[in-house]
Amino acid sequence: MKRLSIFVSGGGTNLQRIAEYFAENPEVEIANVICNNPNAYAIERAKNLNIPCKIINRAEFKSEELSKELLNQKIDLIVLAGFLWLVPQHLIDAFPNKIINIHPALLPKYGGKGFYGEHVHEAVVAAKEEYSGITIHYVNEHYDSGDIIFQAKVALEEGETPDSLAAKIHTLEYKHYPEVIEKLTIDN
Ligand code: GRF
Repeated sequence: MKRLSIFVSGGGTNLQRIAEYFAENPEVEIANVICNNPNAYAIERAKNLNIPCKIINRAEFKSEELSKELLNQKIDLIVLAGFLWLVPQHLIDAFPNKIINIHPALLPKYGGKGFYGEHVHEAVVAAKEEYSGITIHYVNEHYDSGDIIFQAKVALEEGETPDSLAAKIHTLEYKHYPEVIEKLTIDN
C-alpha cells in the first residue's frame, strides 16, 4: 500500500480525478490533503471524498513539524495538484525525489514564479506557440525546475483562446497525472 499526500490551493479538479482513479486500487491511498487556502473548493471535495484535509498557514508550511507529521503518517509520495507556494527545504530534504508537481505548459518554457493558472495559457496564446502541453516533474527548491518525469503536448488551433487551451490542458492532466502517479508508486 502506497500513501499519497495531495497538496492543493484551488479548485481541486485534479485531486478529484486522482481520487476517483485510485478508488478501485487497494495499492494506493490518498492519506490526506494539505491546503493552503481556506477558501479553496478543494476542501469541499476532500470532505466529499472522505479524505482528511488539513488547512495550513505559511508559518505551519515553513515549520519542520509538517515534515515530521507527514513522515509519521508514512507518506510515500507528495503530489502537488494546483498548489501555489514554493516548497520549503525541510520538505525537500524529508522527501527526496518524492514530491511531484504538474505544470500546465511544456517546461522549461512558461514556468517559474508568476506562471500559474490562466497566466500560463495567456502567455502561450499571445506568443502564438504551435504547441502547449503538460509537464510532470520532481519538485526542487525553485519553481518549476526539477527533473522532468513526463510531458504530453497538444497543438494550438486557429482562434485558440486561453480558455479553450486551458480545457485541452485539463483533459491531458486528468488522463496522465493519475497514470504517472501510479507508475511512480509501483517503481518506488
Ligand atoms: C492545473 O492546471 C495544474 O496544472 C496547475 O494548477 C491547476 C490546478 O487545477 N498546477 P485544479 O485545482 O486541479 O482544478
